[in-house]
Amino acid sequence: MSLGKNNPIVCRCEEIRERDIIRVIKAGARDPDAVKRMLGAGMGLCQGKTCGSLIAKIIARETGRSLSELLPAKVRPPVRPIKIARLKKPN
Ligand code: FES
Repeated sequence: MSLGKNNPIVCRCEEIRERDIIRVIKAGARDPDAVKRMLGAGMGLCQGKTCGSLIAKIIARETGRSLSELLPAKVRPPVRPIKIARLKKPN
Protein backbone atom coordinates (compact mmCIF):
# COMPACT_ATOMS: atom_id res chain seq x y z
CA MET A 1 0.00 0.00 0.00
CA SER A 2 1.27 3.42 -0.81
CA LEU A 3 -0.46 6.52 0.36
CA GLY A 4 1.30 8.59 -2.25
CA LYS A 5 4.59 10.18 -3.19
CA ASN A 6 3.56 13.66 -2.15
CA ASN A 7 3.77 13.13 1.61
CA PRO A 8 0.01 13.36 2.13
CA ILE A 9 -1.62 14.60 5.30
CA VAL A 10 -2.87 11.63 7.32
CA CYS A 11 -4.34 13.42 10.34
CA ARG A 12 -5.96 16.55 8.97
CA CYS A 13 -6.84 18.17 12.25
CA GLU A 14 -3.31 17.90 13.64
CA GLU A 15 -1.72 18.39 10.17
CA ILE A 16 0.41 15.29 10.50
CA ARG A 17 1.83 13.89 7.32
CA GLU A 18 2.81 10.38 6.27
CA ARG A 19 6.50 11.27 6.50
CA ASP A 20 6.06 12.35 10.16
CA ILE A 21 4.49 9.00 10.98
CA ILE A 22 7.27 7.08 9.22
CA ARG A 23 9.82 9.11 11.21
CA VAL A 24 8.33 8.07 14.58
CA ILE A 25 8.02 4.46 13.44
CA LYS A 26 11.74 4.51 12.69
CA ALA A 27 12.23 6.02 16.15
CA GLY A 28 10.45 3.06 17.74
CA ALA A 29 6.67 3.55 17.53
CA ARG A 30 5.14 0.13 16.87
CA ASP A 31 1.41 0.69 17.31
CA PRO A 32 -1.20 3.42 16.80
CA ASP A 33 -1.07 4.39 20.49
CA ALA A 34 2.67 5.02 20.28
CA VAL A 35 2.21 7.18 17.17
CA LYS A 36 -0.55 9.03 18.99
CA ARG A 37 1.67 9.70 22.02
CA MET A 38 4.66 10.78 19.94
CA LEU A 39 2.86 12.94 17.36
CA GLY A 40 -0.68 13.62 18.49
CA ALA A 41 -2.01 11.89 15.37
CA GLY A 42 -5.50 10.70 16.24
CA MET A 43 -6.01 13.24 19.02
CA GLY A 44 -7.94 15.76 16.96
CA LEU A 45 -11.62 16.06 16.20
CA CYS A 46 -12.05 12.67 14.58
CA GLN A 47 -10.37 10.91 17.54
CA GLY A 48 -8.90 8.36 15.12
CA LYS A 49 -12.15 7.40 13.40
CA THR A 50 -10.86 8.69 10.06
CA CYS A 51 -7.09 8.67 10.41
CA GLY A 52 -6.73 5.61 12.66
CA SER A 53 -6.96 3.06 9.87
CA LEU A 54 -4.50 5.02 7.72
CA ILE A 55 -2.02 5.20 10.60
CA ALA A 56 -2.38 1.46 11.20
CA LYS A 57 -1.79 0.75 7.49
CA ILE A 58 1.38 2.85 7.50
CA ILE A 59 2.66 1.04 10.60
CA ALA A 60 1.86 -2.35 9.05
CA ARG A 61 3.61 -1.42 5.82
CA GLU A 62 6.69 0.03 7.50
CA THR A 63 7.12 -2.75 10.09
CA GLY A 64 6.05 -5.75 7.98
CA ARG A 65 3.32 -6.63 10.48
CA SER A 66 -0.23 -7.52 9.55
CA LEU A 67 -3.05 -5.12 10.29
CA SER A 68 -4.72 -7.71 12.52
CA GLU A 69 -1.72 -7.57 14.88
CA LEU A 70 -2.18 -3.86 15.45
CA LEU A 71 -4.67 -2.89 18.10
CA PRO A 72 -6.61 0.29 17.42
CA ALA A 73 -5.56 3.33 19.43
CA LYS A 74 -7.33 3.75 22.75
CA VAL A 75 -10.17 6.23 22.64
CA ARG A 76 -10.02 8.96 25.25
CA PRO A 77 -12.83 11.46 24.96
CA PRO A 78 -11.76 15.09 25.12
CA VAL A 79 -11.93 16.52 28.64
CA ARG A 80 -13.62 19.84 29.09
CA PRO A 81 -13.31 21.92 32.24
CA ILE A 82 -16.50 22.57 34.21
CA LYS A 83 -17.22 24.81 37.16
CA ILE A 84 -16.95 23.22 40.61
CA ALA A 85 -20.50 24.38 41.36
CA ARG A 86 -21.80 21.89 38.77
CA LEU A 87 -20.38 19.04 40.84
CA LYS A 88 -22.51 19.89 43.88
CA LYS A 89 -25.31 17.49 44.74
CA PRO A 90 -28.79 18.74 43.89
CA ASN A 91 -31.02 19.34 46.92
S1 FES B 1 -7.80 13.24 11.34
FE1 FES B 1 -6.96 14.12 13.10
S2 FES B 1 -7.59 12.93 14.75
FE2 FES B 1 -8.19 11.92 12.96
